[in-house]
Amino acid sequence: MRIGILTAGGDCPGLNAVIRSVVHRALTGYGDEVLGFEDGFKGLLEGHYRTLDLNAVSGILARGGTILGSARLERSRLREAAENGAELARKHGLDALIPVGGEGTLTAARMLSDAGMPVVGVPKTIDNDISSTDRTFGFDTAVTVATEAIDRLKTTAESHQRVMVVEVMGRHAGWIALESGMAGGAHGICLPERPFLIEDLVKMVEERFARGKKFAVICVAEGAHPAEGSMEYKKGEIDQYGHERFTGIGTRLAAELERRMGKEARPVILGHVQRGGTPTAYDRVLANRFGWHAVEAVHRGEFGRMTALRGTEVVTVPLAEAVTRLKTVPEDRVREAESVF
Ligand code: F6P
Repeated sequence: MRIGILTAGGDCPGLNAVIRSVVHRALTGYGDEVLGFEDGFKGLLEGHYRTLDLNAVSGILARGGTILGSARLERSRLREAAENGAELARKHGLDALIPVGGEGTLTAARMLSDAGMPVVGVPKTIDNDISSTDRTFGFDTAVTVATEAIDRLKTTAESHQRVMVVEVMGRHAGWIALESGMAGGAHGICLPERPFLIEDLVKMVEERFARGKKFAVICVAEGAHPAEGSMEYKKGEIDQYGHERFTGIGTRLAAELERRMGKEARPVILGHVQRGGTPTAYDRVLANRFGWHAVEAVHRGEFGRMTALRGTEVVTVPLAEAVTRLKTVPEDRVREAESVF
């Protein structure tokens, strides 16, 4: 078989492990040929690809980023790619395509599949917000990085009797903030799923200082926002990819806390540090398994589906099911976290 693979959307630790795993399984298990399309769907549309043999994927397991490059494509070009599924498959002589990506990529993958391209998707995102899979690779790495940051911020916060506001990624879902906040023992966690009251945060900090704990660390997801009337807040602009460009809730929150309490507060934006660098062992294993199962699904002819983790099993689920809604943090997980601080 001739199998194409591409990585699209924001990058994520573990992408190279998937590419390597697909190539190994396809070549050594089935004698397939694997084409790596460059820079996501752009490579597919413009015919930029290279043949991936075992040497091409040697030494990349622990490397962050993606050897194929990744890009976000404007919606109009994505639609163009998606609507020409059958034609693109024919043009490149593909028997199957394995797009590795987040919600936008998997939505395009579903459209490609509907238009006649044999597709098996692999979900990826550090945000862990894709439905139908218990976890995505990259998430564990991001949580590990953010937890280490919180640990480090606590010691400097304590030395200076400051409030540190650490902003982590998570546009619509607060999984990274929730889990790194829990693991790092943050004193406050703000999630997109539940608008926060600045009055609650002020009260928490004041109470800590009153009992002699003269510092605090608050972990806030980039998509978190205050409840109406609690603090001035302006929504971000929507960019050409349809994403809201956030306007720095961490910075605004730190400034507002400082203003209200007369205590020093500092914002720390972790940003893309959470996405770069080597994946954790957990993410490498999950990425390997997804790659292996994607090739198996291709050979079973299970198209229009994506790999997913259910409990400890890797299965495939319909792409249509996976992209209908985002997986946000449920209320009971928020309540568990509340008891921690
Ligand atoms: O989708 C993953 C993510 O990390 C989001 O949490 C974040 O908003 C976004 O990517 C930022 O990506 P970029 O700067 O590459 O557009």
